[in-house]
Amino acid sequence: MKKLRIGIAGLGRLGKVHANNIANKIPNCELVAACSIMPAELEYAQKELGVEKVYADYHEMVKDPDIDAVVIVTTSSEHCWQIEAALDAGKHVFSEKPLGVNVEQCKQAEAAVERHPDLTFMLGFMRRYDKSYAYAKKKIEEGAIGTPYLVKATGIDPEAFVEGAIRFAKNSGGIFLDMGIHDIDLMRWFLGSEATEVYAMGSTFKHPEFKEAGDDETGVAVYKFENGAMGMVHVGRTAPYGYHVETEIVGTEGTIRISAVPEKNQARLYNGNGVCAECVGSFPERFEESYLLEMEEFVDCVLTGRKPGVSVYDGTKSTRIGYATTEAWKTGKIVKIN
Ligand SMILES: NC(=O)c1ccc[n+]([C@@H]2O[C@H](COP(=O)([O-])OP(=O)(O)OC[C@H]3O[C@@H](n4cnc5c(N)ncnc54)[C@H](O)[C@@H]3O)[C@@H](O)[C@H]2O)c1
Repeated sequence: MKKLRIGIAGLGRLGKVHANNIANKIPNCELVAACSIMPAELEYAQKELGVEKVYADYHEMVKDPDIDAVVIVTTSSEHCWQIEAALDAGKHVFSEKPLGVNVEQCKQAEAAVERHPDLTFMLGFMRRYDKSYAYAKKKIEEGAIGTPYLVKATGIDPEAFVEGAIRFAKNSGGIFLDMGIHDIDLMRWFLGSEATEVYAMGSTFKHPEFKEAGDDETGVAVYKFENGAMGMVHVGRTAPYGYHVETEIVGTEGTIRISAVPEKNQARLYNGNGVCAECVGSFPERFEESYLLEMEEFVDCVLTGRKPGVSVYDGTKSTRIGYATTEAWKTGKIVKIN
């Protein structure tokens, strides 16, 4: 079978992970081009990944007839116009989340996807490809917990990285848009329903810099869904023990808990402190396999003409809910989501 020829845009923290997977780990695709506004990243692509064609201008890359598909891992505000430009140039597109930084941008991306029904578009909600989350979804579909009526999601970044979070706080769009989007997508996916209203609040106890930047260090939001189900998202930036992502889905006949203890592995250290399980340290470590599995899915969807499970509409809906959550947090009021 023909190999899918991919050009990647953005080779920052996550771009390097995707680029390495495409170049070295997925047999039926190749990384033929890379684009970045940072010369050092283009040099990295050439030297470390053997990419021959590098571009400082995204428009130039999408014109390249040697490329079948574009993978977008640039700054979030760039995603929507880059999606549109690539689709209009006849390329299949994988874009990192969030789809856009506001609903208007998302609608523009939706229109571009609709203009090109023959091209594949997939959004990077990689948790859906994590083996534990995919298992939970399958069990729910099989009726293992009856009717799911509550999702409780926790996502707390490690305190070890808090300085970066503080620097980014002014431009983060607020803690819920910045950190809650994966959990929002998972609630919709597990409950099979759309959120209709949200109430949210935030707090800052350790690092006043977050408040000074108009943000918060931690936040909680509760949601009501169309079918009567409920959701609760707890986000934060200061877990002293590591990277804490945990999800619980409660149903009429049972409960599924994913990463109830966010452990690094199954080893236990027995010493004078007791019996200890080390915590997973960061998102690239926790979701290393999911990033690979989602890219394999994208490549396979393009090559076989299958539609990916995550659509452009999932991106718009999650962004809309993220905005409503932010409004609820800022105003202290219950916000209806339409
Ligand atoms: N799915 C996940 O779990 C997950 C995790 C982290 C980041 N992300 C998303 O991935 C994206 C990238 O995040 P990151 O942490 O790697 O950011 P980053 O700042 O480390 O990298 C972004 C890169 O985009 C490049 N860039 C920016 N504008 C560009 C343009 N116009 N043309 C070409 N290149 C351009 C920059 O050179 C930069 O290296 C963000 O949208 C982020 O939300 C997703």
